Amino acid sequence: MKNLDVAKLNETVAFIQSKTNTKPQAGIILGSGLGGLVNDLQVSLSLSYEEIPNFPTSTVKGHGGKLLFGQLNGKEVVMLSGRFHYYEGYTMQEVTFPVRVMKQLGCELLMVSNAAGGMNKAFKVGDLMIINDHINLFPEHPLRGQNDETVGPRFPDMTEPYNLELISKAKAIAAKNDILVYDGVYIGLQGPTFETKAEYNWLHVIGGDTVGMSTVPEVIVAIHGGMKVFGMSVVTDLGIREEMNVITHEEVLEAANIAAPKMALIFKELLGEI
Ligand code: HPA
Repeated sequence: MKNLDVAKLNETVAFIQSKTNTKPQAGIILGSGLGGLVNDLQVSLSLSYEEIPNFPTSTVKGHGGKLLFGQLNGKEVVMLSGRFHYYEGYTMQEVTFPVRVMKQLGCELLMVSNAAGGMNKAFKVGDLMIINDHINLFPEHPLRGQNDETVGPRFPDMTEPYNLELISKAKAIAAKNDILVYDGVYIGLQGPTFETKAEYNWLHVIGGDTVGMSTVPEVIVAIHGGMKVFGMSVVTDLGIREEMNVITHEEVLEAANIAAPKMALIFKELLGEI
């Protein structure tokens, strides 16, 4: 088994390049309830996932299902509106295929966002966290399988997956705009269950600040391909909490929607600085 089917990737990229000759500088992946940034994009081309050869298709409520090209704050970008989650049944190759496509189209930067549970005791629902590191608890690895050295190294270094310069720029943007932003460690696991109380406690103990069901596979593949990465979590629920309350997908989407404009502002301004 190969960790990437390069022939398929080339076919997909050739199809997209037959529709547009823009060369995006950054790829953007928006998490659950965080799709509002799409409204700020001056769209030059919109492709539904169904029409793109070899692209997976999206199944979850709250996820779009379009690959969008256009300008955001003066920069050419490609945006994945609706990401693919491992819990939906996709293979890791499918989950990360859009990142391969972004890289092949010319993107040097991947910007990711996610809705996440918060373990850090300082966090409140609606808070923003810049991801400065991650812990990978997915049961399968996107780079498992025969590696093509022309795509990326067999053993990628993961000392600094989240670009430090972009993190400090994002912090400065947040400060300038009076936006409270934390930074911390995101833990990615498969879901689809939200965590038990014992699991949230354990995730805190092992060093996590937020937890979610996405992001880590895409970031790994971006690093493998030599891209820079910037990522943010919106805290949509609290794992470590006093009172007992049940976490629902609706609650997650609602909290994400409220925080989304602040995150959108940081993404846009950051793009302006690349
Ligand atoms: N756990 C895992 N994934 C999530 C959560 C959570 O608490 N909130 C949003 N996505």
